[in-house]
Amino acid sequence: MLYSVECGQVNDAGEQFCYVDRDTYIGWRTFHGFCSRCHAQDALGSTFAPNLLDRMREFDFSGFVERTANGFTGQVGVMPPWKDNPNVSKRYQELFAYLKARSDGALPPGRPKKKP
Ligand code: HEC
Repeated sequence: MLYSVECGQVNDAGEQFCYVDRDTYIGWRTFHGFCSRCHAQDALGSTFAPNLLDRMREFDFSGFVERTANGFTGQVGVMPPWKDNPNVSKRYQELFAYLKARSDGALPPGRPKKKP
């Protein structure tokens, strides 16, 4: 399984805590360290970088790695290459798990917790 997510009930404050496996958690951390300044928190997109939830449905792992490693320029703008940044390039698997969990609808927005 690519990711594992277990969410509790929404509490009285309207919060819901979700527990994820280690890869997905590291993916979340990496995404918010390097990608969210363009793609926004929770990968929802901004005025200058796309929402990745729709786009991730079209990617298998190798397609995702290709795009993330090499970057590209499209109609929206410039996606930078990440292959020379080891903090990102060693985390493709984890980023993919996090983004798939988001785009499959398994993981709601917000900060997940790591499964004990
Ligand atoms: C400087 C801004 C910026 C940063 C930082 C950034 N991206 Fe992007 N990204 C873009 C833009 C702009 C596009 C869309 C390009 C287009 O289609 O015109 C994009 C597109 C993508 C796509 C979609 C490719 C497609 O073909 O639809 C993926 C996947 C992606 N980015 C992943 C990431 C990941 C993972 C990170 C962090 C490691 C990241 N991006 C960081 C700007 C950024």
